[in-house]
This record gives sequence, C-alpha cells and structure tokens, in this order.
Amino acid sequence: MISSSAPGKIILFGEHAVVYGQPALAVPVTQVQATVTVSENSRGGVWVEAPNIGLSSALTQLPAEHPLAFVIKSAFASLGIARLPACTLYIQSTIPVAAGLGSGAAVSVAILRALSAHVGRPFTDPQVNGLAFEAEKLYHGTPSGIDNTVVTFARPVYFVKGQPIKTFRVGASFTLVIGDTGISAPTKESVGALRSLHQADPAHWDAIFSQVGEIVWDARQAIERGDTTELGKLMDANHALLQEMTVSCDELDRLTEAAHKAGALGAKLSGGGRGGNMIALVLKDKAPAMAEALLAAGAKRTIVTTVRAR
Ligand code: MEV
Repeated sequence: MISSSAPGKIILFGEHAVVYGQPALAVPVTQVQATVTVSENSRGGVWVEAPNIGLSSALTQLPAEHPLAFVIKSAFASLGIARLPACTLYIQSTIPVAAGLGSGAAVSVAILRALSAHVGRPFTDPQVNGLAFEAEKLYHGTPSGIDNTVVTFARPVYFVKGQPIKTFRVGASFTLVIGDTGISAPTKESVGALRSLHQADPAHWDAIFSQVGEIVWDARQAIERGDTTELGKLMDANHALLQEMTVSCDELDRLTEAAHKAGALGAKLSGGGRGGNMIALVLKDKAPAMAEALLAAGAKRTIVTTVRAR
C-alpha cells in the first residue's frame, strides 16, 4: 500500500494578475492536506473512492473530462502503461473545495505521486508539476500554474507564468489567519469573468495588473527584510485592486474589515475570490483573538499558519 500527501496553499499576493504574466507570491499550508492511498484490489480494474465528494466508482465509469479520471489516466499514459493494474485509489482531503486553497492541485499531485510510486516508477517533482498543470486546465480553464507549483514543491514560491520556479527568503517569520467565507467559488468563474472584462478593455486592465506586479515585487522585498508593517499595507493595497477587478464580494470585504478592526496589520482576499478565503496578517500572539473576530464576523472556519523565516 502506498500513500502520498500534498498540502494546501494560499496566495499571498498577485492572484489573477498572475494569469496575465505578472508575478505572484504563494506559500504552502501544511495544516490541510490531500492524501491518496493506492492498494491492490481483487475485483480487477482501477477503482476510485473519494468519500469527501461521495464518489465510489470504477475508473471506466467516470466521464473522460472528470478531473480525477483525467489525472489518473494521464499518470498511466505518461508512465507508458496501457494495461492498467488492478488497484484502488482512496482519496481523502481536509482542504476545503473551491475555497482558493488549492484543493484540486493537491489532489492531483497526491494522485500522481501515489500512482507512480505504486507501479515502482515515482515521478520527479517537475514531472508531477507538469502533469498537475494539465489537470488544472480542467479545473480553471486558463490557470497560471501557480497552484500546482506551490503544492508540488511545498515551499514559498515567487511565481511568474511559464518561468522556472523561484523561491524567496523569509527574513522574519510572520503569521496569517485564514478566514473562510464558506462560499464555494470555483476559480474558473472568477478567472473567466475577469477575462471578459480584460477582453473589453485590455489597456485599462493591463495597467491595473502592472500595479499589482509592483505590489508583489515590493512585498517580496518586505518579506525578505522581515518588514511586517509594510507587508500589511501592501496586502491592503492588493485587496483594493482585487476589489476593482470585481473578484471580491460582500462577505470577503466584511471579513477584511473585521480583521482591521481587530488589529490586523493588513488583510486581503486570497485565491480566486468571490467567496473562498481571505487572509489577515497578525502579530503571532494576536492570532487566536483574530480567529475569534473573524468567526464573529461570519467566517465559517479559520486556520492559523506561520510562514517561517528561512
Ligand atoms: C488561484 O489560486 C489563483 C488565480 O490567480 C488563478 C491562477 O493563477 O491560475 C486566481
């Protein structure tokens, strides 16, 4: 029996603009994980058990465009295996779905690792990343590739679409409280809505995306210097631009406001937006109070995560 896990992720800065070639910063969130266990079975064929989403099916019964079927088949295809072994994939995840925490990417990465290890030919990280990116296209339409990259390599990432992975130094540890609106918001929809806006007025939106790019660059430097105060201000500036991009919503704005009232150094939505999660930057000892304040303002759950100096 082989098990593989992959973490969730949060985007610190630059979501959406990253799809248009601007840089973005993201970090893994190891408190939530997708885990895939592969074992031999005696009933024959490949079976998929994913109790979180109420799925129990033979691979052959899943539609070809089903993201799980796509990942499993692409793993076997790139291993050159045409006669599929009799095995059962048991997929479990504690990463909320459609919440901007990279659940789709983490499930893909864990499947690719577990299946390739099961047949004795484990994929390298770049292979996992490339195949998970193809699966992201089913979830997202036109993904930048940031989710699969941060989830595969499980380290802080300074990401520019199409460029080799770069990490960044963290000068001083900083703590984030993640607040979940509980609103399911597929990234594909917010990315698609912004694409329509961009098509209607490319010059206007490209200028906004460039401003985001500058914020991301400044944020990277603030993180490297360990300047948390500046980092908070940059989060607020990024959130304002995300609001302009129409990817925030009342619930996300309510949570970011509540975060400020409770003493956050900065707050912004994280990921695709229009639901899903926001993040609030806090001094470490203020994290429990911030989590309380977010819950009182309507968050359905919170996660406290510290990005460690490295
Ligand atoms: C989703 O986590 C981040 C987006 O920028 C989409 C992407 O980069 O593919 C909204």
